[in-house]
Amino acid sequence: MKFIVGNWKMNGTPDKKSAMIRALSETTTENIVILCLPFTLLGGDNKNVTIGAQDISEHENGAYTGDVSGQMISDMGAKYVIVGHSERRFYHHETNETVHAKAAAAIRHKLIPIICVGETLDEHKSNKTFDVVRKMLDVCLPESGEFIVAYEPRWAIGTGKTPTIDEVKKIHQMIYEYLNVHGHTTTPILYGGSVNKTNASDFANIPHVDGLLIGGASLESETFLPIIKSVN
Ligand code: 13P
Repeated sequence: MKFIVGNWKMNGTPDKKSAMIRALSETTTENIVILCLPFTLLGGDNKNVTIGAQDISEHENGAYTGDVSGQMISDMGAKYVIVGHSERRFYHHETNETVHAKAAAAIRHKLIPIICVGETLDEHKSNKTFDVVRKMLDVCLPESGEFIVAYEPRWAIGTGKTPTIDEVKKIHQMIYEYLNVHGHTTTPILYGGSVNKTNASDFANIPHVDGLLIGGASLESETFLPIIKSVN
């Protein structure tokens, strides 16, 4: 049993969502499948498919034009929320401190944050991956409450490039040990970055990989369902 999380990013229409919800609700799997949708697609009839958002405001309410609060996300029936995705860090200059505040806001509203960590290509090339990820964990993780960590190297997102199995094994081992030392003994750790139906089971079978976070390949049932079926 693994987590299979689709991140639709800024994609999708009501019709595409309905088609995916129908396909997922007709698929039997032992895996925990979560669909993280744009805010505009969160509500409506989700037919028992578990829904997540892709961002959350660290604030409760008030004059924050364009932001969406934990209460609003929860009111739409979502159970999870991605925080600290590298696209939020890069395009919206979110810091580790912001990510921490957003994870805490999620937990206040009984949402489970999926906290993303990962290095850039430059950091990867200069062997800073472990330091960068450790620093992110130091600052981003909430003090208490249930959460998930997703390791997504920025350079592997949407590029078709991936770390080697051995690289993923080592970084997941480090994250697992880090979480254990800090008392988070049951926190799931996901891998994300250019996962597709061909490589999904290879990544999912690595020790301490408890699931996958999938962008492009989660948009169509033709590419998403084979991933769900290939992983167990
Ligand atoms: P891709 O699967 O498209 O590389 O995206 C990964 C991702 O960013 C999921 O959050």
